[in-house]
Order: sequence, then C-alpha cells, then structure tokens
Amino acid sequence: MKLWSGRFEKNTDALVDELNASITFDSRLFREDIMGSIAHVAMLGETGIISVKEAEKIKAALYDILHDIEDGKLAFTLENEDIHMSIEAELTRRIGETGKRLHTARSRNDQVALDIRLYLKREIMEMRELILTLIAALHKKAEAHTQTVMPAYTHLQRAQPTTFAHYMMAYANMFRRDVLRLEDCLERMDESPLGSGALTGTTYPIDREMVARALGFKRITQNSLDGVSDRDFAIELLSDLSILMMHLSRLSEEIILWCSWEFGFIELDDAFSTGSSIMPQKKNPDIAELVRGKTGRVYGDLMALLTVMKGLPLAYNKDMQEDKEPLFDAIDTVKKCLPVFTAMLDTMTVRKDSMRKAASRGFINATDCADYLVKKGLAFRDAYTIVGKIVNYCISSGKTLETLGLDEYRSFSPVFEADVFEAIDLKTCINSRSVPGGPSVESVRAQMNYIDGFLKEKTK
Ligand code: ARG
Repeated sequence: MKLWSGRFEKNTDALVDELNASITFDSRLFREDIMGSIAHVAMLGETGIISVKEAEKIKAALYDILHDIEDGKLAFTLENEDIHMSIEAELTRRIGETGKRLHTARSRNDQVALDIRLYLKREIMEMRELILTLIAALHKKAEAHTQTVMPAYTHLQRAQPTTFAHYMMAYANMFRRDVLRLEDCLERMDESPLGSGALTGTTYPIDREMVARALGFKRITQNSLDGVSDRDFAIELLSDLSILMMHLSRLSEEIILWCSWEFGFIELDDAFSTGSSIMPQKKNPDIAELVRGKTGRVYGDLMALLTVMKGLPLAYNKDMQEDKEPLFDAIDTVKKCLPVFTAMLDTMTVRKDSMRKAASRGFINATDCADYLVKKGLAFRDAYTIVGKIVNYCISSGKTLETLGLDEYRSFSPVFEADVFEAIDLKTCINSRSVPGGPSVESVRAQMNYIDGFLKEKTK
C-alpha cells in the first residue's frame, strides 16, 4: 500500500508504477536522505513538536536502517516509489506508530531538494580533489620540461617556439579555474531548503537554522517556493562539469595528435593504450579518445536538465524528478575520467628530440627575426615584410633561418649582422619571452610557483 493511498480507491497501474518510480536511481541518495531525516527528527524533538523519546526512537531506527543498507541487507522495491518513501516505510515497518511521526512538518519536495544538495556537496569535494591531483601531475610534468623546446601552434600551424612546461602550465591554469568554479558553485549551493515544506512552509514551530547547522549548511534558503523548485545549483554544477570536460577534451585532442607518428611528441605507456584486433602495429590512445567522447555525454546531461527546467511553473513539478539521472551520469563520468587521465599523463614519455626537431622547422623564429630588425631601428611593419620575403626565399631554396648565410640575410637588409644567429636561436627566442605568462624558464617558474601556492592552499 502506498503511503499516500488514503485519497485513492484503486491501486496505481503497474505501468504507472514503472514510470513514476525513481527508486531505481535515487536509491543512491539513501545516506543523505537518512542524515536529513535524523537532523529533522532531532529538531522535532528539541522544539517539542514530537516528544524527545519519540525522536530518539526514530533516530536510532534510522541509524539501523542506514547500516543495513550499507551492509547490503536491505533492498528496495518499486512499490515504495522513491528513496524517501522507501526509508519511511521501512522505519514504520520496524518501529510501528512512532515511525509515522517522522514526516511531520516536511514534504518530499523539500526533502528531495535537501538530499540532492547534500549529495552534490559531497561529490563536489571529491571531484575537486581529483582535479587538484591532475593539476599536480601537470605541474610535475612541467617541472621536468622547462627546457624542452617545442613549437606552439595557431591554426594547428607551427607559430612560435615554447616549452613543454609552458604548455602544461596552460592546462594547469584551465583546471585551476575549474576548481574555483566548483568551489563557487558549492558556496551558492550551501543552503538548506528543509522547512520549505511542500511549497509554502509549515505551520509547525520548526527551527530551520538548527537543522541547517546540524547538516553542515552555511545558510537556509530564503523563500519556500524557490526552496523546493530551484535546481539552479544542479544546472550550475553541470555547466561547471561541462567546462571541465571541455578542458579535458582539448588536452585529449592534443595527446591524440602528439602520439601520432606524424607528431611523435609523446608516447603513452602501454598500460594506458590499447591495440587493434586486426592491425598488429597499432597502439591507440583510446583513453584520450573516450574522454573526448564522454565530453559530449556531459554536455548532453546539461542540456537535458536545462530543458527539463525550461518553462516549469512554480513550485514542484514531477518533471523535476528527471534532474537526478543527468546529474549522476555527469558526476560518474567525470569521476571515471579524471583519475585515468591523470595516470595516463603521469606515465607518458615526452620525446624531447621530436619536439625539438619540429621546432626547428616551420620558421617559428620568424617573429624573433623581425623583432631583431626592430631592435636595430626598423619599424615593425617593415621588418615583418622583409622577414616574409626571407621566409619565401628560404622555402624556394630549401633553407631555414638558421642555415641562411649572412650574405643572404644582408641581401634583404643591410642591417643584418652576425648576431642575428644568436637572436633567432630557439633558446634565445624562448628566454627573451620573459614577460609574465611567457615561456622563458624564469616566467614558467613563476607560473609554477603560483600553481604550487594554489595547490598548497587548496590541499591544506
Ligand atoms: N521522487 C521525487 C523526485 O525525485 C521526490 C519528490 C516527490 N514529490 C512529489 N510531490 N511527488 O522528485
């Protein structure tokens, strides 16, 4: 019999039960649901809404239920619809009449809003840790490669020289923002909706602050209609996770390119690559490809929830039960991707020679050559045109800026002197970009110190 069967003359159709029930996926909220009920019932006891003795009895039974679920001794059925009714039904089955007092001054609407917030708060902290570990891995790679010269690209065309450390620190900064975004999301989410009731609060003299404090919330929600119908925090989290996955997919894409024969910049560890069922020579970057692919899935989760919420009138509507699966899916996906991605990064081999070779082709020091002329007094635009002509000449004569003779240089501009070779040396090009944020060893060190400080602050 349903907890709400009083008003009905017939049982629900089995097909309805199947569609209506959320227990198949919201059972994972059991811990939050029980902890929320424990805080609620303790408050009911302290405020005298029910007797302290009754509150104690309910509390003890709820703990027993919690342990039984944790030990796998309790299974849920469709009959009880969702996690909230399942636990309440089990409570009453165990302690009889007293159990029926738990739901005083509460609705499943504020209960589910509470459960999701509690659940997401915990998950955010776990995902935050995983991102911090990834940042530490990037930092470690940077540490080993502050002098590893590689081409930096625009339009996937070799553009200017940089180092692998500079590259790694770019990603470290992207993931640093992801950590901050999650913290920001958590801060806004940190409000207890309990006490909003079904939608307009309750007539009982409850103490919302007491419950919020007991559950570790910073504040209570300000409006009961909003309290039960707000899912902004879930949408924010899915947005944050989408951005995080977008970052992971960009690095995945680079890794896929880098480990191709065409680039040959890195080699993935055997433990983090896969083979082909037909082509014996293949070593594929499946992990990076899957992470790139799963990004689409997390975007889909965000779109699903945005669309569920679009145009919903206040307050609770059953549509909102559809918030859970996309949330769980996105969180599961992110939690699966991050550790394996970090391990893949950690164990990959960087092929310094190939990077260096790629850097010595493609005229990536052409800007530096133009800057050389500017230092000798030319206007940048004139210098740019001269170097353009030199590059054109090099291409048709099969030379590079390094192998061109001084006479040849001087035929384009008399300003060139023997020190041009020093100026276009890749190491010089990199280390003269000592602007904050740039690739010089010194600049990258500063960036690494910054990230180091960030990690220390966030892990203390
Ligand atoms: N299972 C429901 C959900 O996930 C709980 C809230 C149900 N409230 C209601 N009025 N039917 O949204």
